[in-house]
Amino acid sequence: MDAIAFLKKDHQKVTALFQRFNDGGVLTGVVRRLTGNSASPAQRRSTAEQICRALDVHTLIEESTFYPAIRALRDDALDEMLDEALREHGSIKDRVEEVRQTLDDDDRLRTAVGRLQECVDHHVREEEREMFPKIEERMPAQERATLGRELATRQRSAAGPAGAARPSGRRVAAARATRRKKSVKRATASTAAARRHVRKTAAKTKPARSTGKARRAR
Ligand SMILES: [Fe+2]
Ligand SMILES: [Fe+2]
Repeated sequence: MDAIAFLKKDHQKVTALFQRFNDGGVLTGVVRRLTGNSASPAQRRSTAEQICRALDVHTLIEESTFYPAIRALRDDALDEMLDEALREHGSIKDRVEEVRQTLDDDDRLRTAVGRLQECVDHHVREEEREMFPKIEERMPAQERATLGRELATRQRSAAGPAGAARPSGRRVAAARATRRKKSVKRATASTAAARRHVRKTAAKTKPARSTGKARRAR
């Protein structure tokens, strides 16, 4: 598939996920919430995790495969667009992180996903309206097809478990819980060792104390 068509299709997938998060669109979402037919917090959390994962993979394949191929065209206007696109990817990644931090709080999650969507919509508009048409002018269709195949391969490896770009929010929370348990265990062990040490020291100093008492008695 042509690289441009491939990336546009991926943009549509992310847009559909945002729509699902908003119960089928911002307006429909308001109606569904008023009629009590909106998605549950658990469903929204799961959709938010999918959005983050899709954006991890999308930014990864663009940065590792697509943008370098465009940079190789040595076109000043495209170079500027790529610099801007990379800055925008930075903002998207920051907002993805915000979403992951708010997965357990439905109100804050809605705000964070709204902020992320704003950023992604803006970026997708710039890629599709400015960058992609310019690439279609500068890169022959055959090269775009080869690049499309490379993107598909890269996407498959990045989306698989071994190539996972980053762990999900739940896995991060589980890892944090394990670390907490281990540090509690370590703290308990060192407290027990400290107690043993105090007991030993007390046992050694006992005769001295009784001598003191004996002296005071005299
Ligand atoms: Fe991008
Ligand atoms: Fe993109």
